[in-house]
Amino acid sequence: MERVFSGVQSSGAPHVGNYFGAFRQWVADQHTADSVFCVVDLHALTVETDPAQVRGRTLETASWLFASGLDPDVCIVFAQSHVHEHTGLSWLLECTATFGELRRMTQFKEKSKGNESVSAGLFTYPVLMAADILLYDTNKVPVGDDQRQHLELARDLAIRFNGRYGETFVVPEAVVPTLAARVMDLQHPERKMSKSVTSPLGTIDLLDEPDAIVQKIRKAVTDTDGEVRYDPEHKPGLSNLIELFAAASRRSIEDVTASYDRYGPLKADLAETLVEVLNPVRKRYVEITADPGEVPRLLEKGAAKASAIASKTLLRARRAIGLLAP
Ligand code: AMP
Ligand code: TRP
Repeated sequence: MERVFSGVQSSGAPHVGNYFGAFRQWVADQHTADSVFCVVDLHALTVETDPAQVRGRTLETASWLFASGLDPDVCIVFAQSHVHEHTGLSWLLECTATFGELRRMTQFKEKSKGNESVSAGLFTYPVLMAADILLYDTNKVPVGDDQRQHLELARDLAIRFNGRYGETFVVPEAVVPTLAARVMDLQHPERKMSKSVTSPLGTIDLLDEPDAIVQKIRKAVTDTDGEVRYDPEHKPGLSNLIELFAAASRRSIEDVTASYDRYGPLKADLAETLVEVLNPVRKRYVEITADPGEVPRLLEKGAAKASAIASKTLLRARRAIGLLAP
């Protein structure tokens, strides 16, 4: 069976971009592939964090994964920092990656822009991500569009390591959804919806109540030409809504576009569809988090299963590179 692996940062409340761009695909994958999903809490430390919030955010993010439908009896869900092999392999891969290729990563350039002090971890972030993926002999990595370049790096590192030290890693492939791979901010449709940029009206969080969803969609920025047409370049706001609608209702962009000739009704129906799809997820979240012991227990079980796989791969990599066995 194919191995699927993916990860999500515990850097804040997940939003509809995470859900339609990633989580929903993961929920489907767990039934067709040998699937492993990780809350990447170490990646979340690459920017300044408040220690009082770190744990809670890991649990919150994991809870959203379970609420979205990941079943701990069907797939593996765990926290990255619980499986030490991730940082162990990351070092071997840091010595495989070059400064030049990491400097070219657009996410690093974006996140470091304008900051006086940038952590070395933010720079080597994509190498830890490659370690996450390669530890599990991953074939497919379902991610949003923003992760394509990081996946290319993971492939390059696997190929380079295999070439230098002998066949060690499976070379992974990115799987990016055809719809909602890059959900844009509702107020600033030129930038992606993000957990790290504060934009309360521009972001629909999975925890948002129906009223908030309706209001945010109603206030979403569009344009003044009034024609319902999918044209991301000239009509980014409206096109984002059309694409979100198509993803949420599992219809095609053409079908959604043909059904409306005014923005108002399209927005109203989109809001209704989002509420319908997200309501059960939010309800499950409330249920799961009602018992504070539940998610830590599930993550502990997940980590034990993940470690069993990861430790074998790290041993293989350590041997290949010639390290003395302990
Ligand atoms: P992150 O929250 O950055 O850890 O992202 C978790 C997953 O959600 C990754 O697969 C991302 O590519 C995906 N993702 C994040 N933001 C968006 C967005 N605005 N639209 C679509 N997918 C996204
Ligand atoms: N960098 C990814 C993001 O920001 C999260 C991530 C870390 C990841 N490790 C991963 C995604 C491994 C897929 C596979 O979304």
